[in-house]
Amino acid sequence: MCGIVGYVGDKQAEIVVIEGLRRLEYRGYDSAGIALVNDGDIVSDKRAGKLANLEKAIKESPLPPSTTGIGHTRWATHGAPNDVNAHPHLGRTGRVAVVHNGIIENFAKLREELERTGHGLRSETDTEVAAHLLEVALDESGNLTTAMQVACRQLEGTFTLVAVDGQDPDRVVAARRNSPLVVGLGEGENFLGSDVAAFIEHTREALELGQDQVVTITRDDVQVTDFDGNRAEGKHYHVDWDLSAAEKDGYDWFMRKEIFEQPRAVADALLGRHDGAGLLQLDEVRITEDELRDIDKIVIIGCGTANYAGLVAKYAIEHWTRIPCEVELAHEFRYRDPILTRHTLVVAISQSGETADTLMAIRYARRQRAKVLAICNTNGSTIPRESDAVIYTHAGPEIGVASTKGFLTQLIACYLLGLYLAQVRGTKYGDEIAAVVHELEKMPAHVQRILDDAESVYKLARQLAGARSVLFLGRHAGFPVALEGALKLKELAYIHAEGFAAGELKHGPIALIEEGLPVFCVVPPQGRDQLHAKMISAIQEIRARGAQTLVLAEEGDDEVAPYADVTITLPVVPTLLQPIVATVPLQLFACELATNMGHDVDQPRNLAKSVTVE
Ligand code: AGP
Repeated sequence: MCGIVGYVGDKQAEIVVIEGLRRLEYRGYDSAGIALVNDGDIVSDKRAGKLANLEKAIKESPLPPSTTGIGHTRWATHGAPNDVNAHPHLGRTGRVAVVHNGIIENFAKLREELERTGHGLRSETDTEVAAHLLEVALDESGNLTTAMQVACRQLEGTFTLVAVDGQDPDRVVAARRNSPLVVGLGEGENFLGSDVAAFIEHTREALELGQDQVVTITRDDVQVTDFDGNRAEGKHYHVDWDLSAAEKDGYDWFMRKEIFEQPRAVADALLGRHDGAGLLQLDEVRITEDELRDIDKIVIIGCGTANYAGLVAKYAIEHWTRIPCEVELAHEFRYRDPILTRHTLVVAISQSGETADTLMAIRYARRQRAKVLAICNTNGSTIPRESDAVIYTHAGPEIGVASTKGFLTQLIACYLLGLYLAQVRGTKYGDEIAAVVHELEKMPAHVQRILDDAESVYKLARQLAGARSVLFLGRHAGFPVALEGALKLKELAYIHAEGFAAGELKHGPIALIEEGLPVFCVVPPQGRDQLHAKMISAIQEIRARGAQTLVLAEEGDDEVAPYADVTITLPVVPTLLQPIVATVPLQLFACELATNMGHDVDQPRNLAKSVTVE
């Protein structure tokens, strides 16, 4: 997520804003910018790269003094991370400057309307559209607060907008929908921030804003309205976190924060990618529909958790498109002399977009004339840059080395790709696609429900604190979930953990079962009788040999209950989509067990967030 700072008061705004952005650097970003109000004008500077680049530019061409300003660190979603796309963005005349966090879903349509009326937009961003809309409204109303209300009523999607008017040095105006914004209440000064880390060194008195609210801050006043201009209230609170906790929104670890960000991340991964009637629009897939119709094989490559996302995707893509789909570990792929043609679609899954094994694999694939589509969370990183097309997962920066929201949004992107291929190739009717999209739209709420009951999983983690080995079983799309659950436990708790296809037990692994051995069992939905029944048989077999069965099963699954020592209840979802909800308890378990062992779950030993060496 982007970092936002706003200030009005008696201090030098440049210093307050830059220092605020520095405290937001932990959020991850790829460009930074600032805008100040000075002598009836907006003065601004913005640069790709780290904050130091912006500070160097300002040192070379200093900004004038000002006591009103806004700043931004951008995590690119729409548009590459370069100087032009960096925030702030200005309106047509340069009277208004805007910074933004979120995704404006209807920005393409709004952009067309603006361009039709003579507005020339320079960047690829949705934010610049908001700046032009705001300035049009300001020209009509003469008041930045009213203009913000008018502009917000035209926007769809998630957004935090913060703006200044060059002709009004006394105020900063902001608005939020589904994206964080908090006010810092000072003495003779007031602040705005995407989180309290932006101003915690100046004040600990904060005002949390509600949904669809506009806030206007001056030196001595804070006014809140709704988007229609009706007076509203924020929620005042005292910040008792230290800076480190503030960066984690009060969570103890970035990983835990990112587990709990998953409802938002899943919703953002879906945002703007279908028209509500189920017609998918993946505007970043720059491979023509004819080329997609000519695809006769898909090969999904990735490493670690990304590989497991590919294993889940295989079940869905093959079922929806009937295209043969192979899943390969990226580091094995190019050494096995794979059969690739120009009718092969290679899908490279990578959260960081910099994993060397995956990068080398796509270079190999492109030399073999295959089409390459990246599924990536990091806009402008090497893998999407070297691919023919990309689907960004929009999870926001993932700081914790162990991937959590990165994985769930990879699954969403894979499902969207599968449905898009089915739509283009006509292997699914529109209403069938709409039905699946409708189920995907419920996923943020399903994930939230599991998170609301996190304590029951934490209790299990504390009970198993001494475990020296844990197994994970799954069938069908639950098998990759077993692999991912085992990986989380390995990389965080440093204990032996292994995932198996449940059907494989009797071919050897059942020899591992002994008294008291904890075994997580991911049970398929009851609709899949042959799978569901076989999973219950496997659970009976291991329980008969002394295993402690930790069963993940959908609500109302009474058949498996008698064989479960512990039951973790999952929402009822379609088989192919169950990995989204089944993974979350395993993330919570691994995180809690490891933290109780005193481990640093953000930086586990021996691991790096992005493995940029082969
Ligand atoms: C998962 O928790 C690990 N951090 C690791 O397996 C990771 O998924 C793998 O290294 C791939 O990284 P990427 O998605 O950035 O390419």
